[in-house]
Formats: sequence, structure tokens, C-alpha cells
Amino acid sequence: MKLILLMAVTVDGMIARDDAHFPDWTGRADKRLFVEITKAAGVIIVGSKTFDTIGKPLPGRLMVVMTRNRRRRSRWDNLIFTDRSPAELLADLERRGYREAVLAGGATINDLFAHKHLIDEIRITVSPLIFGRGITLFNTHLDLPLKLRAVQPLEGDLVHLIYDVPKPDANTQPAS
Ligand SMILES: NC(=O)c1ccc[n+]([C@@H]2O[C@H](COP(=O)([O-])OP(=O)(O)OC[C@H]3O[C@@H](n4cnc5c(N)ncnc54)[C@H](OP(=O)(O)O)[C@@H]3O)[C@@H](O)[C@H]2O)c1
Repeated sequence: MKLILLMAVTVDGMIARDDAHFPDWTGRADKRLFVEITKAAGVIIVGSKTFDTIGKPLPGRLMVVMTRNRRRRSRWDNLIFTDRSPAELLADLERRGYREAVLAGGATINDLFAHKHLIDEIRITVSPLIFGRGITLFNTHLDLPLKLRAVQPLEGDLVHLIYDVPKPDANTQPAS
């Protein structure tokens, strides 16, 4: 299973002004790319706060919403709520036949997968904006070296960056 973290950021590294900020600032070219990459994978994983800013699943893809609230029930065939661990969730998706999944925020959920070294690729679109304050791509301490694979200018002064995330050396990785 390949896990792609796909996010839009401002030049100062923000993904939103606050946890209820609707993502209407990321630009048309980024939205097109988001549709293309998520449809190719077939599944999108998000946190419950991110889902609540959208309010419904995106068509043509399975949407997995991470929540600890077991009372949440889905009204849609292509939306599931889960409190599984990141590793269990990816194993379950693999059993369902998915070969790729897109992790699409927010910061809290990105952290969960990053700390377990489950992210294989990071794709971010940088928007020509500065929020000054807000929510960053991750919100806890991390130390992840990346390898730049591609830089793609997009219309609207956007830049799409693709990084590989090397797996840590098994001998040096601390147990967690
Ligand atoms: N720019 C972008 O590309 C982009 C992408 C995505 C999101 N965003 C923005 O990011 C903001 C939201 O980010 P966020 O970090 O505040 O929230 P988030 O990551 O979307 O969701 C956090 C929620 O996930 C649930 N959760 C936390 N730990 C969990 C665990 N171990 N297992 C299962 N569920 C768990 C909790 O919800 P419960 O209380 O339900 O348990 C928690 O409140 C929004 O403004 C959104 O628009 C931006």
C-alpha cells in the first residue's frame, strides 16, 4: 500500500486559518489535481474536522473519516467512519483491494500517520498566499528528511511539489 499525503499550503506553511476553515483558497488547478490523484487512488483518508468542513463525501471515491466518536454513522455508501489505528486502517484498505490511498489532512491526522512512518510520498501545492497564523501541515514535533522528486508550476501562480519520504533505517528507528 502506497500512502500519498496530498495537501494545499500557503507560502507560510498553513493549511487553514482555523479548524473550521473551508478550503476555498487553494486554486482551480489544485482542485483539478486533487480530483485526478484521489480518483486514481480510489480512497481518501481525512480527520473528522476536515470532513466536517466539507460535510459530504466526494463522489467516485471511498472516503474514510477518522474519529473516536463511535456514535457517528454514515448516510452514504462511499463514506465510513473509523477509529482504527493508521496501520490497521491501511491493512484493511489493502484487503479491500486498494493499492494506493490519499491522506488529505488535517494536521492532527497527518501527524498520526507521519509518526508511524506510513507516508510514502508528500505532494503539496503552494498557493501564493500568507495567513500569518493558522494550522500547519503537521502540529507536533517531527523530524522527517524528504527527497524532492519534482517541481511542477501550475496555473494561478501555484507550485506543486512532490517528495519521496524515505523509510527510516530499521536499525536506527527508535521503538514506539
Ligand atoms: N489545505 C489543505 O490541503 C487541507 C486539507 C485538509 C484539511 N485542511 C484543514 O485542516 C483543518 C482541520 O485540521 P485539524 O488538524 O484541526 O483536524 P483533522 O485532522 O481534520 O481532524 C481531527 C479529528 O480527528 C479525530 N481524531 C484524532 N485522533 C484520532 C485517532 N487517533 N483516531 C481516530 N480519530 C482521531 C478527532 O475527531 P473526533 O472528535 O471526531 O474523535 C479529531 O478532532 C480544517 O480547517 C481543514 O479545512 C486543509
